[in-house]
Amino acid sequence: MKPILEDTFGRKHNYLRISLTDACNLRCLYCIPEEKMQVTPSHKMMSAREIFEISKIFVDKGVTKIRLTGGEPLVRSDAAEIIMALSTLPVELTISTNAVLADTFIDTFKKAGIQSVNVSLDTLDADEFYAITRRGDFHKIMDNIYLLLQEGFDVKVNMVVMKGVNADKINDFVEWTRLYPLHVRFIEFMPFAGNKWLWEKVFSLKEMLEKISTAFEIEKIDDKAHDTTKNYSVRGFKGKFGIISTMTAPFCGDCNRMRLTADGKMKNCLFSKEETDLLSAFRKQENILPLIEQCLQAKKAERGGQFDFEHIENRSMIRIGG
Ligand code: 5AD
Ligand code: SF4
Repeated sequence: MKPILEDTFGRKHNYLRISLTDACNLRCLYCIPEEKMQVTPSHKMMSAREIFEISKIFVDKGVTKIRLTGGEPLVRSDAAEIIMALSTLPVELTISTNAVLADTFIDTFKKAGIQSVNVSLDTLDADEFYAITRRGDFHKIMDNIYLLLQEGFDVKVNMVVMKGVNADKINDFVEWTRLYPLHVRFIEFMPFAGNKWLWEKVFSLKEMLEKISTAFEIEKIDDKAHDTTKNYSVRGFKGKFGIISTMTAPFCGDCNRMRLTADGKMKNCLFSKEETDLLSAFRKQENILPLIEQCLQAKKAERGGQFDFEHIENRSMIRIGG
């Protein structure tokens, strides 16, 4: 029997999300705090070798899936080296990116056996795109999404839906799935340090379904085990869409995820206040397995045990890693 990392609620954790960097080539307003952000100096970040060695410890304890996140993982100068190293582990390797640099990584993704790429994109309107990301080339990202599809990748497009910002655009994304085999996912706006989150800005699962139903005849389709997404399709459309309802209908009961920040801290939940410093211990050549296990034992039943979301104690999203 393969070992597995289990928490006090019996949840089995086989999925590790690793942030490669807290730098990004975009400045999405819901992700980056307004005050000037210091990018973590490189000596405090996990090196390529440290990422590989620490990942191996998780894989030996039953991790079968690794997702690379950021910041924007592809802005790291040794991103390709890290991807290739991790591809030698017996895991399903995936990546979340804003796709700005995706065209330059097609060969690396293929060589590494990456099959599925998640792209963050919050609007299909070029002007609104600049307002949300405060830079970046909308058309480049669109070209890269089509390129990824053409090259045979499964492409998921993640849209963070915010009332008063882009909630009125969700049906553009559903329409997009008519001709393209994309999996669009609408994410309820979540609170992180410095992102000015308020309940009033959350466009809920219920509101999304109502809005989409006014324009499309939708049907529920099956969700995979541990899926954070409630999936739907429109009959005859090539793609599908789903809703990630972290705020109004959390799915923590089935959680199988752990996170590692770019500076080598383990988080047992996206919303956990606590973090466990694996990197410092690793650098002192200590056995980090007991730390991993302790961190997991402290995992709360739901959303990091935080309930007052307007006063959340956490890092900003860019420093956690989606
Ligand atoms: N709420 C919901 N999703 C967010 N993401 C970043 N910040 C937030 C937030 N405040 C998403 C990104 C990306 C994924 C990694 O996390 O858009 O798709
Ligand atoms: Fe960059 Fe993604 Fe944050 Fe936007 S949401 S600033 S693309 S890390």
